Amino acid sequence: MRKYLIIPALLLAAVCCAPKDNVESRVESALAQMTLDEKIAIIHAQSKFSSPGVPRLGIPELWCDDGPHGVRPETLWDKWAAAGHTNDSCTAYPSLTCLAASWDRDLARLYGRSVGEEARYRGKNVLLGPGVNICRTPLCGRNFEYMGEDPYLAGQLSARYIQGVQSNNVAACVKHFALNNQENHRLTANVNVDDRTLYEIYLPAFKAAVQEGGAWSVMSAYNKYDRVFASHNSRLLKDILKDEWGFDGAVISDWGAAHDTDGCANGGLDLEYGSYTDGEARTAPAAYDQYYMAQPYKAKILSGELPESELNDKAARALRLNFRTMADGYHGSFLSPEHTADCRMIGGEGIVLLRNEGVLPLKKDAAKIVVLGENAIRPMVVGGSSSSLKAQHEVSPLQGIRNAFPDAEVIYERAYYSGEPTPGDYNYSLYDITETRPADKLLADALTAIEGADYVVFIGGLNKNKGQDCEGRDRSSYGLPYGQDEVIAAIAAVRPDMVYVNISGSPVAMPFADKVGAIVQAWYLGSETGNALADVLTGDVNPSGKLPFTFPVALEDGPVKTERQYPGYMDEDGIWQVHYDEGIYVGYRWYDTEGIKPLFPFGYGLSYTSFEYGKARLSSKKMGQRLTVKVPVTNTGKVAGAEVVQLYIQDVEASVDRPVKELKGFEKVWLEPGETKTVSISFGRDALSFFDALNHCWVAEPGQFKALVGASSEDIRAELEFSL
Ligand code: BGC
Repeated sequence: MRKYLIIPALLLAAVCCAPKDNVESRVESALAQMTLDEKIAIIHAQSKFSSPGVPRLGIPELWCDDGPHGVRPETLWDKWAAAGHTNDSCTAYPSLTCLAASWDRDLARLYGRSVGEEARYRGKNVLLGPGVNICRTPLCGRNFEYMGEDPYLAGQLSARYIQGVQSNNVAACVKHFALNNQENHRLTANVNVDDRTLYEIYLPAFKAAVQEGGAWSVMSAYNKYDRVFASHNSRLLKDILKDEWGFDGAVISDWGAAHDTDGCANGGLDLEYGSYTDGEARTAPAAYDQYYMAQPYKAKILSGELPESELNDKAARALRLNFRTMADGYHGSFLSPEHTADCRMIGGEGIVLLRNEGVLPLKKDAAKIVVLGENAIRPMVVGGSSSSLKAQHEVSPLQGIRNAFPDAEVIYERAYYSGEPTPGDYNYSLYDITETRPADKLLADALTAIEGADYVVFIGGLNKNKGQDCEGRDRSSYGLPYGQDEVIAAIAAVRPDMVYVNISGSPVAMPFADKVGAIVQAWYLGSETGNALADVLTGDVNPSGKLPFTFPVALEDGPVKTERQYPGYMDEDGIWQVHYDEGIYVGYRWYDTEGIKPLFPFGYGLSYTSFEYGKARLSSKKMGQRLTVKVPVTNTGKVAGAEVVQLYIQDVEASVDRPVKELKGFEKVWLEPGETKTVSISFGRDALSFFDALNHCWVAEPGQFKALVGASSEDIRAELEFSL
C-alpha cells in the first residue's frame, strides 16, 4: 500500500474552487471603482516581495516569496538581505529534481499541498515556483530547481505540484517563462530557437502548468527571445501564454527583469517586481514610484501615448490574483510533524539507485560504518541563491546514518575539503566546517579509518556554492570538484564495495562508476536529508526513483557542443547570442538518435527487488481518438517496491526528422513480493504529433507508429505497432 493519502481529484478541485465563484464579479466591481492611481499602484511592487492592495476598497497587499523548495525567510523591506526574524525557519523540502525523479503525480500534489500550507501560514499569496525550464546542458546552475530534461515529465509533475500549492489559496508562480536554460549571461542573452523546438521542447511544461495545473501566475524570464526581453515579449506573453493557452492569471516579472515602460505596457507583463532596488538592478531613491509600470506608465497614459485598456487588463489580473489568494480565514500550517514526514517521504521516493553490486541495502547489524566526504556534514538547504532556505532543522547525511545505526560505531572522516565555507545566508556560518589538514593527510586519515569497516559510505558530489548547483552562474565543470575523483578512486582501490552517494541537482561525470560497489543519486533533500538517505541505504525504503535527465559519460557526448550553442557569444551589435542549434535533440532525444551510450540513461533507476514485464497489449492496432497500452508487471523479488512503467512513442516513418522516441506516458505501480498488477497507460493523437512550424499547428501524420514500453529510455521491454 502507498503510505500517503491520495486526495481524489474531484475533492481537490472542490477545495481549490470553493471560495472562487465570486472572483470575477469581485474583480469587475473593484476595477469599476478604482482610480488611475490605484490601478497603477497594484501593478508594481512596494517592497522587495510585496505590492500594495487597494486600502480604500479593503483589498489587502499581495505578498510573494520564494520558492520552490520551502518558504524563504523574510527579507528586509527593499533588500535581498535576510530580515533576521526568529519565526521564519521553515520546513525545507527536497529539490524539484528529486520530486521529478519520483515520477509520482500524487506525490507531486502532496509536495505542493504541504509547501503551500507553509506559505499560507506565513501569509504569502504567491509562492515563486515551480521552475520548469528544461535541462538543456548539465552545466546550467539551476538544474536543481527544475524538473529534468523531458517536457512531458516536467509538465505532469509541475501541474500536480501547482494544484497542491493552490489548494491552500496560495498561487504557484511557474518560472522562468521562457528559455532561461542557462545562468551565465541570463540577464542579457538572446535565445535563438526555431519554432518547432520552442513548441516541442521548451513550452509544453509551461503549457501543462497553466492548463492542467491551472497556475494563477507565471514569472517572465530575464533573457531575451527574438531580441526582445522575455518580460516584454508579446509573442511569449500575449500570443502564446494568454491567447493560445487562455492564461487568465498574472505575469510577474522576474526580479529586475523589466526594462522600459513601453515594453512592460505592451508586452503582456502584469506585475513589475525587483526593478531598481538592490540586487539584479540598481538602487534609487523613491525607487517604487520610478518603476517602469509606476509614474512613468501613468504619465504615458495621461498623455495618450499608451492606452488605458492595457492597464485595465493588468489591474484585472492583479486583482484576480489577489482575490484568488485571499486567506478566507484559513491559515495553513507551519513546521508540522506532517511536513517533516512529507519531506522524508518525498526524499525517499526521489532517491535513485544507480548501481548496486549487492552491497545495498546495508545490513542493520553492521558493527562499524565509516562515513566519508564533506557532503556528509555540509548544510545544503542554505545556498544556491534565491531558493536558499533557513531550515528549522536539517539532518545531515552523517546524522541520518547515525540515527539508523544506533548500536554501530559510526566513524566520520572528511577525505577531501572544498575549502569553501557554506554560503553566509541566515547565519548558517554558525556551522563551522573548516578544515586545516592538507589533502594528502585527509586521504591518509580516511584510508586509516576504513580499516576493518563493515561498510564505507562516501558522501560527495556538488554543493550550492557559485559555480556548482547555484543560481546566477553556471557550473564551472562537468566533473566533480575538489579532486573527489582521485580520492574516490584511491578509496575504491582498497574498498571496491564502497557506496558512493552523489549529492547534486544535475548530472555529473563519474569516471569511477564501475569501480565502486554502489551509487546512490541523492539530490538535495532538505530538512530530512540524512533520514531519507538512511531509509534508502538500509532498505527501510526500497528505492524507486528514476532519473529525470541523462548522465552522459562526458560533456562532449551531449548535443550542446559549440560556443554558439553555449555559452554563446557577443555579436557585432553587442548582444549576447545563444543558438539552440541542437533543435529538438535535447537529453535522451539526442543520445538515442545518435546512438551514444550515456553513463546512466533518462528514466533509469534500480530497486532492491526485480520486476518482470508480462505481455504488453494495445487496445487496437489503429489509433482512433485514443489507445491504451496494458502491461502486467510482477514483483519477482523478495521485498515490496515500486516500478515506473514508461511509455515512449516512436514515429516509424515521418516527413520530418523525429527523435527515436519520446516519453508520452508513465505510471508508478506499487507491488508486494509476488504480486502482479496490470498497468494501463492511454494516449491520444497529441502523443503522435510534431509541431509544424510553417502552418503553426500540431500534426499527427498518418502512418506506422510504435508504442515502446520500458523500464527506462534504454530498457525497452515491449514494442507494439499501430497505425494512424
Ligand atoms: C530568481 C527567481 C526568484 C526571484 C525572487 C530571481 O533572481 O531568478 O527565481 O524567484 O529572484 O527571489
